[in-house]
Amino acid sequence: MNEKQFAAESLANALNGLLNTEQVFDLLEKPKKIELGDIAFPAFSLAKELHKSPVEIAKDLAEKIDTANFDKIEAAGPYVNFFVSKTDTTAAVISDIVNKKDSFGSQDLGHNGNVTIDMSAPNIAKPFSIGHLRSTVLGESISNLYKKLGYNTIKINHLGDWGKQFGLLITAYEKYGDEAVITANPIDELLKLYVKINAEAKEDPAIDEAGRAWFLKMEQGDEEALRIWKWFSDVSLIEFNRIYDKLGVTFDFFTGESFYSDKMDAIADDLDKKGLLHESRGALVVNLDKYNLNPALIKKTDGATLYITRDLATAVYRKKTFDFVKSLYVVGAEQINHFKQLKAVLKEAGYDWSDDMTHIPFGMVTQGGKKFSTREGHVVKLEMALDEAVERALQMINDKNPDLPNKEKVAHQVGIGAVTFYDLKTDRMNGYDFDLEEMVSFEGETGPYVQYAHARIQSILRKAAFDPAVEQLVHFSGNEHWELVKHLQEFPATIKRAADKFEPSVVAKYAIVLAQAFNRYYAQVRILEDDAEKDSRLTLIYAVSVVLKEALRLLGVQAPEEM
Ligand code: ARG
Repeated sequence: MNEKQFAAESLANALNGLLNTEQVFDLLEKPKKIELGDIAFPAFSLAKELHKSPVEIAKDLAEKIDTANFDKIEAAGPYVNFFVSKTDTTAAVISDIVNKKDSFGSQDLGHNGNVTIDMSAPNIAKPFSIGHLRSTVLGESISNLYKKLGYNTIKINHLGDWGKQFGLLITAYEKYGDEAVITANPIDELLKLYVKINAEAKEDPAIDEAGRAWFLKMEQGDEEALRIWKWFSDVSLIEFNRIYDKLGVTFDFFTGESFYSDKMDAIADDLDKKGLLHESRGALVVNLDKYNLNPALIKKTDGATLYITRDLATAVYRKKTFDFVKSLYVVGAEQINHFKQLKAVLKEAGYDWSDDMTHIPFGMVTQGGKKFSTREGHVVKLEMALDEAVERALQMINDKNPDLPNKEKVAHQVGIGAVTFYDLKTDRMNGYDFDLEEMVSFEGETGPYVQYAHARIQSILRKAAFDPAVEQLVHFSGNEHWELVKHLQEFPATIKRAADKFEPSVVAKYAIVLAQAFNRYYAQVRILEDDAEKDSRLTLIYAVSVVLKEALRLLGVQAPEEM
């Protein structure tokens, strides 16, 4: 039994059945300040029934309760505050971490149920945008969090590789394209072609018509159309894969929208059979009035399918293939409406599992306060930005620790980790400004700051030749360790909270606070001083390093041993 349960039980006893243990447990809070103890019971809700003020009730309760399991129990205003035994808690938390190591915080809540994660999903022939980076790192971290909670995650890259725009692009390629030029610099050149043809199509309906015709050919399996399209896809993927390699992200399925091109008639027929498809100006739509949404356009006048048609087929396929318990879509907030429509159409079609689908939106990234756009040529050269982050990290290592072995490798871990961490520490619905200097800094709330705390601990442990395999009985006479222990104890609940909210920032903030607490400890205490508590201190900071590393891992960030 843990302290919180002890507290609930003894309160319930003292209340003589007014509330049962479970009811008390649910009321328990964490005191606002560390000086107020570890568990607080607010007495407000009892005032009416007991005809006493909450302050009096708290006072009575504090006197009545047996303190056996606690250091002390005190009334403070309308609260009863419980102070857990620091000695017992410290010993329990640290030995738990030393025994479990990186599986500390793992919980079997998912019973291996499948969670599909739709993530990254850049569009071929277009630059990999900062939005796709967010989706990639958020998806990766959410996958790590759910695995940690005992789910089986399936990371899917739903590449944007189908749609009318590729018909237009083929039109442009026929008119202006040069194979060698494109091969040398695929995304840039294809983007140029696309921007050009898009502008022309706006002026000249014949161009638009030609694009439409090419896409229809693609949908009908025309060999020439598919050959050119496939080539666009191949050259784009070479570039995207370079970015995934840099980020160290892999996928379980790389199935783009085109994968569903032969699975869309089935969903359209299904909707039709259920009487949901209506004609509207020649196109086929599903009415979503009762959801307060615009009608979902399923097929255009010429029979061409749309983004949502492909997503409908995708959702059905994923349910059939993976029988998911959760189906997650990590896609920018500008698509909130799209996912509402998607779920509503499936719901209308009687697919109750659509309730298990969750869109996980995120906010926009700016640079120098301005929004990015890929269409107008303000391309975020994401790969260049990643390279620059690594370059900056290397610069700092050269300044601070020029003899570091494996400098290049560490610079990579620090540079990429810095960009990833900065992205993930932001509440996902908020945007942030892409500022490499701030991201790669060793000061402030950054990835390198957390990595550095971890590496510093490793270096102390090396100096002391600390061996985690040797069982240590920790004991502290002072209180400096307490803040660290309390924070370490919170790790499992933190992971759960982050996963429930699909919010890796919860873990990133946790890691920052832990690193800060360690740095304060390090400033206050002489860890390597040869006294009776030296081994306890080493064991404590070892536990901190295990948790820092695991928190970073959950974020998809590596923790170098030395930097
Ligand atoms: N390719 C789309 C884009 O870049 C994102 C796709 C997200 N996934 C999905 N199943 N719709 O906007």
